[in-house]
Amino acid sequence: MAVLPLTVKPIQPPSGSKIDFGAQIDGIDLENISDEQFATIRNALYHHHVIVFKNQDSISPKAQYELTKRFDPAADNYGHGKTIDAKRSILHPDLKTVPHQPQVQIIGNGFIKSYEGLENFQLRHPHHRTFHKDHIPDDKDYDFTRFYRWHIDAALYDLNPPQVTTLLAVQVPKGRRQTLLYDDGSDETMDVPLGTTAFVSGERMFELLSPAEQEFVRTSKIEYAPHPQDKKLIIRASYIWMSPAHSRSTGLGLHTENLELPASDLPPIDASKIKILPMLWKNPVTGKLALQIHPSAIRRIHLADGTVIDDLARVREIVYKLQRPGISPPYVYAHDWEEGDLVLFNNRGVLHSVVGAFRPDEVRLFRQCNLAAVEEPVGP
Ligand SMILES: [Fe+2]
Repeated sequence: MAVLPLTVKPIQPPSGSKIDFGAQIDGIDLENISDEQFATIRNALYHHHVIVFKNQDSISPKAQYELTKRFDPAADNYGHGKTIDAKRSILHPDLKTVPHQPQVQIIGNGFIKSYEGLENFQLRHPHHRTFHKDHIPDDKDYDFTRFYRWHIDAALYDLNPPQVTTLLAVQVPKGRRQTLLYDDGSDETMDVPLGTTAFVSGERMFELLSPAEQEFVRTSKIEYAPHPQDKKLIIRASYIWMSPAHSRSTGLGLHTENLELPASDLPPIDASKIKILPMLWKNPVTGKLALQIHPSAIRRIHLADGTVIDDLARVREIVYKLQRPGISPPYVYAHDWEEGDLVLFNNRGVLHSVVGAFRPDEVRLFRQCNLAAVEEPVGP
C-alpha cells in the first residue's frame, strides 16, 4: 500500500450539528504502524474521540487486534478469547468470533455464507423491539428507528472498561435512510443512515450541565449492579441482572418496574468485584473530564459525604436528567458507514448506540475488538 504522510482532518459537522469531535486519518498502513505514527493516532484519538480510517477493506483481524491492544499493551481480553473456540463460535447464537483471532468479534445482520473461516451463519442486528418498553409499530419499522441502547463497552463487574474499541465495516447495505425517533415527549428526531452507529461526547455531556450538576458529578460515584451482563457476551451486552427490564424510548437507561433479577437468581456475587466508578473520567492526554455513566447498569449513587442513594428509580431519574441533554440531535454524530471504514473510538470519552431496523435480507457484516483494561478510569 502506498502510504502518504499521515494527516488528521476533523469531521465537518453537518448543518445544524454542534458536534465537536470526530476526525479522519489518512495516509497510514494499519498493518505496519510505526511508534511515531501510533503516537499521532493516539494523540488524535484523545482530542477527537472518534477516528475514521477509510478504505481498510483488507486489514487483517490480527492488525485490528494489535491496533486495539496498542492502547493498553498489558490488557488481557474479555475472557472469551481463550474459551470460545471455533466450534463454539459457530454454535453460539449471539457470539461469533474470528476463529484465528478470537479477540475479534463478528457482528451484523443477515445470513453469511463464509467469512474468515466461519461458514453459513446468521447474524442479527439488535432491534429496539426486544429491549424498549414500547416500540415503533411494525408497519412503520422500515422507515423509523430508535437508539437501541446508549452504552460504554464494558462488563462493569470485575473487569475494567476497555480504553478503545475498533469497528470495521466489511459489508454495508447501501442507500437506505431512516428517521430516528426519541419518542419521549420531545419532538426531537434525526435523519440517519440505515444501521448508523451513533456517538455522543462525554466531555460535551459534562459541559452541558449546570454548575451545581457539575459539582454533583465531580464529587459523586456510581455503583454498578453485580453481574449486570454476561462478560462472555459483552459485544451483545447480554444482560443478566437487568435482562427482564425494559429501556426508555431514547435507549438511555431503563424504566423501573422492579423486574431486575434478585441476587438469588444471579451467579455468585463477589463483593470485591462490584464496580464503584467516578462519574467523570479524565482524558489521559488533555485532562478534560467526560461524564461517563453506562445508564442501563447503574445501581447506586455514592455522594461525597458518604450518603448512598439506594432507591433504584431515583438513581435512574438523577442519571437520566444528567445525560439526556447530551444526546439531543445537535450533539449526536451518526456515522454513515461505508465498506472499508475502520472506526477507532475512545470508549472512555464517548457513549455510543446501535441504531436501525434491518430487513432479514439486508446484510451487514462488521468486525469489532475491545479489551478489558488494566486500569480503572481515573476520576477528577
Ligand atoms: Fe458497543
